[in-house]
Amino acid sequence: MRFIFYLDYLLLVSNRGRVSLLISVSNHFSESTDMPTILHIDSSAQGERSITRKLTKRLVERFGPDATVITRDLSQGVPQLSSDVLGALHTPKEEQTADQKALIAPGAEFIDEIKQADTIVIGAPIYNFGPPAELKGWMDHLVRSGVSFNVTPEGYETLLEDTKTYIVYASGGVPIESDVDFLTPWLKMSLGFVGIKSIETIAANNVSADTEAVANAEAAIDALEI
Ligand SMILES: Cc1cc2nc3c(=O)[nH]c(=O)nc-3n(C[C@H](O)[C@H](O)[C@H](O)COP(=O)(O)O)c2cc1C
Repeated sequence: MRFIFYLDYLLLVSNRGRVSLLISVSNHFSESTDMPTILHIDSSAQGERSITRKLTKRLVERFGPDATVITRDLSQGVPQLSSDVLGALHTPKEEQTADQKALIAPGAEFIDEIKQADTIVIGAPIYNFGPPAELKGWMDHLVRSGVSFNVTPEGYETLLEDTKTYIVYASGGVPIESDVDFLTPWLKMSLGFVGIKSIETIAANNVSADTEAVANAEAAIDALEI
């Protein structure tokens, strides 16, 4: 947060550049109303039994009751990149049919949600050495040429603002960032490719055998400097 006095006004500018309050200093002074917007993404298919859901909930609660929370439960379904979806994405906007618009609307929403967020929390369980299909599907909508990245003669450029992101990982046995964890490197690489590079990871490793794994992850969440 930066405080900028401009003539008779006080501008409160968040560290993401948003002007959150503009007041006349000579008339009054009021407390900041700059509340963070958190994008809370879950992808576990295990409902109430999910460990990542339990942990992401705990992490999001760390931002306090006044935070604005956008919830995106990917287990409810993500349109996969079928030929119909790709065809719709490659059709000029003015020529898209109503069906095509409906097919690509969720992807546009995903990107919009990211743009609204000051902080992103992603529940990322490891399923068969990689991400759940819905998390991969979400990323397929996010990584889009001309929307979230650009190809230039000098190489790739990112188009999304860097946004603090917490990845909350859970595995039955595979330790995070081990040789057989293909989830975390993929997720970090893909987010970085569109500009999201400030990433912190909380892991509940080896939950099948390690009875302390969830409690340790909870303690790590409670110790985060938010
Ligand atoms: C379909 C499926 C595949 C899984 N594959 C792996 C795996 O490849 N490696 C692993 O360590 N754990 C694997 N697990 C265990 C999960 O990572 C573990 O249950 C974790 O808690 C999942 O997070 P969640 O509880 O939020 O769904 C798998 C679980 C499921 C349901």
